[in-house]
Amino acid sequence: MNQPIDYTAKLSEALDRLHGEGRYRTFIDIERRRGQFPHAVWNCPDGTEKAITVWCGNDYLGMGQHPEVLAAMHEAIDATGAGSGGTRNISGTTIYHKRLEAELADLHGKESALLFTSAYIANDATLSTLPKLFPGLIIYSDALNHASMIEGVRRNGGAKRIFRHNDVQHLRELMAADDPAAPKLVAFESVYSMDGDFGPIEAICDAADEFGALTYIDEVHAVGMYGPRGGGVTERDNLAHRIDIINGTLAKAYGVMGGYIAASERMCDAVRSYAPGFIFTTSLAPAIAAGAAASVAFLKQDQTLRAQHQTQAKILKLRLKGLGLPLIDHGSHIVPVIVGDPKHTKKLSDMLLERHGIYVQPINFPTVPRGTERLRFTPSPVHGPGEIDQLVRAMDDLWSHCALNRAEMSA
Ligand SMILES: Cc1ncc(COP(=O)(O)O)c(C=O)c1O
Repeated sequence: MNQPIDYTAKLSEALDRLHGEGRYRTFIDIERRRGQFPHAVWNCPDGTEKAITVWCGNDYLGMGQHPEVLAAMHEAIDATGAGSGGTRNISGTTIYHKRLEAELADLHGKESALLFTSAYIANDATLSTLPKLFPGLIIYSDALNHASMIEGVRRNGGAKRIFRHNDVQHLRELMAADDPAAPKLVAFESVYSMDGDFGPIEAICDAADEFGALTYIDEVHAVGMYGPRGGGVTERDNLAHRIDIINGTLAKAYGVMGGYIAASERMCDAVRSYAPGFIFTTSLAPAIAAGAAASVAFLKQDQTLRAQHQTQAKILKLRLKGLGLPLIDHGSHIVPVIVGDPKHTKKLSDMLLERHGIYVQPINFPTVPRGTERLRFTPSPVHGPGEIDQLVRAMDDLWSHCALNRAEMSA
């Protein structure tokens, strides 16, 4: 008889590897209180509570506590109950889903939109389905695309090429080397979430046109925040009409949950009909769809939050640069400070939380390349001058402390 496999020991080995590299993820247990965000309460491991300021959330505009969003969600719960009760095909399509899809199609100036339970699923389900619709499809994927796109491209069984990040010349070379008759699609992002840099949308669209390729853009970190109606960077730069499929989330600037694609009527119909990640799962709760629709509608006509958001990001970057911190600044709202070592990053994050009540989660490999571990700050319109002052003072204090105490940092 074979020696029995010690499955538990194998799990421990896998977890020990993460501990050894300093990238074991610890979840911080926080409670947001409606109306007080970015202030929240940390439920400390010793059972006590501590007031904290959240500096790493993706509720970029504070819409997660906006009265219009909450009212729409309450109304929908009172009207229809908690869950949708089914997949979209089997009893799970409601007026709330239809209304949200219409709102999103209009946001991007597309004929149609299709909801998913998250933007992760929207990317994965769509990209893994496209080769069924276009046999022989070759997908050209930016090297820094989000895990959800990588997963969709990897699973689809079709051909893929990875072009160097934002390198349109490389993309052209790869497309030129392939069969001119093969169907092609270029997949990329408008704002890359970890460095905060922008994709060269127009140049990619030009290259795609030249080689007869479709275009697919992830606008997850841009919808709600860029463009006169929040339609993302493609709206800001007047390029939405040149993109075949726009992907977005309802969980970040819109403050709720869910993801979508916006595209032609025929494209959405085909993905709706073929993508297992759309077909075989319960649809979003009606209250979520109602809250998201209210949020999208509100941000189509309100410019204040978008403007304040950009201002807060500029102020924070200026202040942190003033301290001489290694900050990446590509002109977007994302503020990454590179620490460059997973243990140091975790230690800094712990010290910010414990000593200063500032919560910023360490970002490690595989989310970012090794050696570029970082603290990624996400300012918002609800982070006022007081919160910014507190953060800048804390970073000043800890950064000099860490420079002087390398041994403690590595412990
Ligand atoms: C670039 C990008 N695309 C997609 C997603 C997935 O979005 P969602 O949280 O709606 O699943 C994320 C999430 O962080 C992201 O950063």
